[in-house]
Amino acid sequence: MEIVLSGIRPTGNLHLGNYYGAVTSFLKLQEEYNCYFFIADWHSLTTHPTPENIQNSARTILAEYLACGLDPEKATIYIQSDVPETIELYLYLNMSAYLGELERVTSFKEKARKQPDNVNAGLLTYPTLMAADILIHRAHKVPVGKDQEQNMEMARKFSRRFNQMYNTDLFPEPQSFSMSSEGGIKIPGLDGSGKMGKSEGNCIYLCDEPSVIRKKVMKAVTDAGPQTPNSPKPEVIANLFTLMRVVSSNDTVEYFEGKWNDCTLRYGDMKKQLAEDIITATNPIRERLVEYNSQPDLLDRVARIGAEKARESASATLSLVRKTIGFRNY
Ligand code: TRP
Repeated sequence: MEIVLSGIRPTGNLHLGNYYGAVTSFLKLQEEYNCYFFIADWHSLTTHPTPENIQNSARTILAEYLACGLDPEKATIYIQSDVPETIELYLYLNMSAYLGELERVTSFKEKARKQPDNVNAGLLTYPTLMAADILIHRAHKVPVGKDQEQNMEMARKFSRRFNQMYNTDLFPEPQSFSMSSEGGIKIPGLDGSGKMGKSEGNCIYLCDEPSVIRKKVMKAVTDAGPQTPNSPKPEVIANLFTLMRVVSSNDTVEYFEGKWNDCTLRYGDMKKQLAEDIITATNPIRERLVEYNSQPDLLDRVARIGAEKARESASATLSLVRKTIGFRNY
């Protein structure tokens, strides 16, 4: 069976955009492939977080993914730093990763500009660590967003280079595939802007209480001018309908479409309905989240089981790599 792998940056809480985008496609993938999903806590060291910071953000995101339905019985779910085999492969890959090509990576240049006092070697070799994450399980497919395409090209390059250098076919060339083709949906923001995103500040989080969700939805931008019969919807209104199509029943959507078409739509009514349907759709996740967060032992157990499975696969790859390079296995 083909191996699918993806890394999750532990940056804050999941919002509706994450859920109906990446998470939904992960849920589908775990049914169809041999999946590895991990929390990329080593990668986060490039910005020097505190120890508490590291601990908490890994746990938060693990609990949220489990609450969404990522299933440790179906997929291997682990924390990157629990699988030290990755770093040994990172070292080998770094020996044939060249300064020039690493310096040319756009996200390196951007981060170097953003944190000029902390242009560390980890930042430079971020693509090698990411390649090691992927190659340590000899993954075939990696669901990623567009922003990761350059890192994926580097991973393919490092994979080919290793194979050529040692005249082997040990590593498959990992293919990126788009989450939208795997059931992911792009969720618009509530401020009329294109996309729901943490940096945009227009998010509904899965951990938001119903009262908070109601408040956020009621504040959504709808100032769209007068309606005319059967006219195309302005973007802010189209966005509300997009969200509604995701969380509400067909009947509800049709009802409000009708209202729009005969110019009797009251945005307040639509938003009230939308808020309730978002709350209903996300309630089970919220309930499971409370449960996971009240059982730190359970989270630990899941992480331990994931790490064991991941290390089994990783050490099998690593022992082949060591033999190929000329090291003996201990
Ligand atoms: N770089 C990815 C991101 O920023 C996270 C990541 C780390 C990753 N290692 C990976 C993704 C391996 C896919 C495969 O989102």
